[in-house]
Amino acid sequence: MKNECWILSISALAATLMLVGCGPKGDEPNVEIIQGMMDQPAMKAQRYDDFFPDHSSARVPPSNTIPVGFSPYRFPTDPEAAAKESKNPYQGDMSPEVLLTGLKFFNTNCQTCHGVKGDGNGKIRQNGSFPMPIPSLLSEKVRKWEDGSVYHVITMGQGMMGSYASHIPQKYRWQVVNYIRKLQQNAQENH
Ligand code: HEC
Repeated sequence: MKNECWILSISALAATLMLVGCGPKGDEPNVEIIQGMMDQPAMKAQRYDDFFPDHSSARVPPSNTIPVGFSPYRFPTDPEAAAKESKNPYQGDMSPEVLLTGLKFFNTNCQTCHGVKGDGNGKIRQNGSFPMPIPSLLSEKVRKWEDGSVYHVITMGQGMMGSYASHIPQKYRWQVVNYIRKLQQNAQENH
């Protein structure tokens, strides 16, 4: 009985070694446990692609097309039109949903420079690593701006400040504008 057990485990081990050891080739996996996951029709990034003449799997979108759910920004070079014509769909909405979304994106992207309170006194200003003064967002100037102008700066940047369009999706940008309005209100109440 004891001997049989021994033989059984040796053969189990041998079978496993055979499975693991006899793979197809190169970087291909030997044992495909979940086959559908390994063998997908989708191309992997940077892989050779038989289909296209340049054999690159990374494709540029066809010209004159836009991704589903994305609308191109209408005023990339016209801040004045942005001020006049962009409408904030959440104008004046200070509900927790709007403000918490704004807070999340503001604290992730803006407070390093403009400060958690928006007073322009972020860490980067404090440690002097930015080559120019960073403006306060609580200033008379920004208070008087239309919401569309703040949206414009987030989307296109301004001077030394780069664009945050790729960091903050379109559908969350107005919430950041409202959050800045809230910071401005807070600052006024504390005066
Ligand atoms: C790397 C530092 C930095 C970050 C991060 C940053 N900004 Fe700025 N921001 C600046 C500087 C510098 C200016 C002034 C640029 C100029 O006019 O040349 C500025 C200008 C502005 C202005 C115009 C203020 C004025 O008085 O003209 C607004 C509004 C603004 N930023 C909002 C934001 C928002 C919202 C975010 C986050 C999405 C953000 N900034 C992220 C550095 C930064």
